Amino acid sequence: MPTLPALDAQHVKTLAHDMDTQGFTRLDHVLSETELEQLQAFTDSRALKHPGEYFAYHGESALNESLLASLWSDPVVKQLLEKLYLHAARQPSPSQQIFPVLRCIQGSRGVRESNCFHFDASLVTALIPIYIPTEGQECGDLLLFPNARKLRSNVVRNVVEKALLQNRFSRWLTCVAINQGWLHPKVLKLVPGHIYLFWGYRSLHANQPCSPGLKRATAILHFGDPHSGSMATRMILGINQRRAARASAKSRIAPPETPAL
Ligand SMILES: [Fe+2]
Repeated sequence: MPTLPALDAQHVKTLAHDMDTQGFTRLDHVLSETELEQLQAFTDSRALKHPGEYFAYHGESALNESLLASLWSDPVVKQLLEKLYLHAARQPSPSQQIFPVLRCIQGSRGVRESNCFHFDASLVTALIPIYIPTEGQECGDLLLFPNARKLRSNVVRNVVEKALLQNRFSRWLTCVAINQGWLHPKVLKLVPGHIYLFWGYRSLHANQPCSPGLKRATAILHFGDPHSGSMATRMILGINQRRAARASAKSRIAPPETPAL
């Protein structure tokens, strides 16, 4: 079972400070070699169902046979995410639930699922690299515009911002601006074994594509939706679920409810 040392208040404060100032923080060597191999084996077992194609699994029931279950049920992990949320939002999270996702980029659809810049619905994002290519022109690096916006008290403003930025044209424009050198995202080369934490709600982020033939797999733990339970949130969730069902029926691949990492 992955072991996260109990973190005292000062340590959590330091982590939160790193996320505030440099846009992310990293917990080193949380997963041992054996644990990483277990996660890779689980990913491989799911990849067999989607040969050479992008896939994603969402929620506890889809992932409870994986080692991830011991992470999201670990009281130390829960407390850490709760404390980080409290630091950023100045109030406890409306929900204590951690929402896990497993995502694997490969094949032609993997390219389409890359560079999809977005803000997460949840405030705290923990990213767990499982497979990260180290060769090839593009290795699926994490692109981050850290803390590009504040926590919104108004859910409508949150929805409008997401609608303006999370569409095909805006994403294309963002990629053009990056390629032209007008925008400079933070580029994180992820290392399996470590866990990366950032404010997913506040940071515009995406992954770079992988070169053909390479595989990039990550697990994500989402925590703390500041607009949990609002009518707008329920509406978006409904739209996303219908979209997911349509895409799933079309391709037999479990698509993300929202773009993930
Ligand atoms: Fe995300």
